[in-house]
Formats: sequence, structure tokens, C-alpha cells
Amino acid sequence: MKITQLDTPALIVDLDILEQNLSGMQKRINQLGLALRPHTKAHKIPALAHMQIAAGAIGVCTSKLGEAEVMVEGGVNDVLITTPIAGETKTKRLVDLCLNHPNTTIRQVIDHAYHVDIIGKYASQNGIEIGLLVEVESGQERCGVNADQALIELINHIKTTEGVRYDGIQAYSGHLQLIKGYEKRQRAAHDAVDSLFTFIETALKPQGLAPKIISGAGTGTYQAHSAHAYTEVQAGSYLFMDSTYTAIGDENNEDTNRQFSSALSVLSTVISHPSSGRAVVDAGMKSLSIDLGMPKVREHSDTVTYKCGGDEHGILLIEQGKSPYEIGQVISLIPSHCDTTLHNFDVLNAVRDGEVIHQWRIQGRGRSD
Ligand SMILES: Cc1ncc(COP(=O)(O)O)c(C=O)c1O
Repeated sequence: MKITQLDTPALIVDLDILEQNLSGMQKRINQLGLALRPHTKAHKIPALAHMQIAAGAIGVCTSKLGEAEVMVEGGVNDVLITTPIAGETKTKRLVDLCLNHPNTTIRQVIDHAYHVDIIGKYASQNGIEIGLLVEVESGQERCGVNADQALIELINHIKTTEGVRYDGIQAYSGHLQLIKGYEKRQRAAHDAVDSLFTFIETALKPQGLAPKIISGAGTGTYQAHSAHAYTEVQAGSYLFMDSTYTAIGDENNEDTNRQFSSALSVLSTVISHPSSGRAVVDAGMKSLSIDLGMPKVREHSDTVTYKCGGDEHGILLIEQGKSPYEIGQVISLIPSHCDTTLHNFDVLNAVRDGEVIHQWRIQGRGRSD
């Protein structure tokens, strides 16, 4: 099928760019002597996870248990769930997933004795052991235990509880990923976890509590930790790169990240053109998320801006002069946030040279359970 035959709004990924981003990040992580465990919250598609693993990733991350079920059932054999879970229903699902896939490595992030007790209880009742990573507070003030006596006590609690295993630590400073300016961002990311790594050396290691795995860092900060012993990087957004991520800059450019390119876009049709300064397209908030700002119009971006027109409408504001649009014309929009835009679609159309090569079902869509 040709891209021109797709109806809109349609989610598109440029396969050439996707492949460059995928292999580019793997190469960079290899050069840093680290391992890559990409976060699949960005794409939620097992086929893409398999491509990342084929390129050298050691496994994947998922945010939620529901996403992990999709990945594991899609044949991915090493998954880290990066958000703590709570409650009997959820815990039993985790145990069931492990029981049903005995040859798959499934690890769960936790930050409290509650998690250790409930996971340990159901895992041991079923004769299995689940590997846990302790999330440590690293400036985001989301989940995470402080790197002090509380961390030591929690690790010791895991080590003395049946059905669970202490595999390591997660430290992800999500609040720093989008800081503009390479040096500033890397310094902030380094400083946010420096005391944790000192604590590992001075307190955990002497007590025999050294973490086997230290997992964290994202697309914006993966270079920050040359002085730190992270064992794996959880970057995810590099695969698609949204316009917000592109604007954070890289080593050589303050304003543009050229390490990775925008691979994801939404095709949308001009459905109305009420005046020379305003055209309306069929992609509103239910197609393009606006939590990180407005999408960018790929062509004519210097004279045309997108404004949200509600759930179903996007408004193109056209500077004085002749409009480049007519009703029925299809345009391409670059999302400001990949993850939340992708989550609006059932299918990701992978395109090369104007041909739709794959139509991947976004199997993890709606699986935030
Ligand atoms: C725990 C965790 N790790 C890794 C990532 C991926 O980071 P990025 O998409 O910035 O590369 C995220 C993204 O939100 C995350 O929540």
C-alpha cells in the first residue's frame, strides 16, 4: 500500500529514521561500555522490542504490568517493570505471568517492605522467586526510598523474605531529561545520583549488599554517568524523538538534538479552510497529545502553526499571504510527545520510500493496568 492510500488521522513512523535511531543509540551505549534496556513505554509494540534486542539490547523495560504482559506474550524474554505495583489482584497477575513463562526473566521495581511482603507471599506460595530492583529517590520525588539506612533495611528485608530476590537498584531522574543545554543537563543528571553511588561504595558494598544491576537514565541523560557504575540504560524516546526532545540539544548543538531524528508523525487532512489565515485539520487532542505543547507542522513550519481546536480539530494558523493548503490536502504533523500521541492510535504504519511496509498493532495501547 502507498502512504497516500492511508486514511487520516494516521500514525506514521519513517522506517529509515527509526532504524538509524535504533542502531545509533545501541552504538553509543556500546561505546560507553554500558548495556541498553530500552523503555518500551514509548512504543508498546513487541515487534519493535525484538528489533531493539536484535540490535544488541539486553531486554526491555515496561512501565506497567499490563505492558509487560504484552511484551512477554509477544516473545520478549527479559522484562523489567519499572513502576511499583500494589494490591492482591495485581500481585497475583505478576506471579501468574512468571508462572506461565518460566524461561522468561521478569523483574519488578519496588520501594517498600509492603511490596516485598505481598510479592514474596504469592511467589513463595507458588514455588517461584521474583527478582526485585529497589527504586531509589533521585530528585524526582516520585517513587523511591532514600539512599540511607532505609535502603539498607529494605534490601535486608528482601534478602530474608522467601519468594523474592534482591537483584539491584533503579535510579531514574525523569525530571531532568528535558533540561535544555547538554552540559547543564548532564551535570544535573550526574549530581542527582552521585550520593547514591557514594552510598553504594561506602555502605552497601562493605555490608555485602552490592547491587548486581543498577538501572536508569534516559534519552536526555544517558551520557551523564561515565563516573557512575550504572549497568544498564533505560532510554526509550530516542527511537521516535518528539519535537520536545529534539529541542533539548546535544553535545554540539544547544538548540537541536541531532543525535536522533524525528521518526514519528501524524498524517492529517485539511477538512475546512474558513479563511486565508485559518485551515482546519482532522487531528485534534484525541490524535496528537498536547501535554508537552503543540505539534509542529512538518512543511511550512516557519509560516504555519498548529493550535488545538478541541478533541477532533486542529487549527492551522497561517501567516499573512497565500495559504499553501486546500481542502482535502494531507499534511504531516510532528508530535510534541511521542508516548502520549502513540497511545491514541491502534496501528503504527511503518513507511519507507512512500510504501507502507508494516502496519504494527500497538498491542500495549490501553494496557496501563
Ligand atoms: C523509569 C523510566 N525509565 C526510562 C524512561 C525512558 O526515558 P526517555 O523516554 O526519556 O528516554 C522513562 C520515561 O518516562 C521512565 O519512566
